[in-house]
Amino acid sequence: MGRVRLGVLGVAVAAGVFAMTGCGSSSTTSASDLSTGKQQFTELCGGCHMLAAAGTQGAVGPNLDDAFAASRQQGFSSNSMKQLVETWITMAQPPMPRNLVSGQNAADIAAYIASVAGTQSQSTVRATPPADPQARPVKFRT
Ligand code: HEC
Repeated sequence: MGRVRLGVLGVAVAAGVFAMTGCGSSSTTSASDLSTGKQQFTELCGGCHMLAAAGTQGAVGPNLDDAFAASRQQGFSSNSMKQLVETWITMAQPPMPRNLVSGQNAADIAAYIASVAGTQSQSTVRATPPADPQARPVKFRT
């Protein structure tokens, strides 16, 4: 079996609870929000997170393309991914600091990540290693 990212799945449950209690923001996102989000992401988050669309190479935290690719394949809406990111921003686990951003800036960053993360099967910055190297057939030269 491949490695499962429990982080995103765990947060998905939490985000569901937030959505039901009405804490999720649901305002519509404009193109300018996305460009603000990209800029803020690059400044505040990119030092720790790799995200191909933003060209960031941080390696302290997980590669966000990898973190969201599975959710995207499973048909999560961009809006639920946005809520996941907003939840992460407020409930981050060390060494990721909590509440690096808030309000509209947090919403913009989350919307930006939700719009791009995991849309490419491979990170263009650094290819993702196979989930389970032992599952690959070993080829011997004869
Ligand atoms: C100091 C480094 C650092 C900074 C800055 C940082 N993060 Fe993180 N982030 C991490 C680490 C480390 C984790 C993994 C924590 C864990 O799994 O317990 C993480 C996890 C995440 C996750 C969950 C990914 C997953 O696989 O579950 C998201 C989403 C995230 N960060 C978004 C952001 C956003 C958005 C910002 C900017 C506002 C940001 N991070 C800034 C280090 C950082």
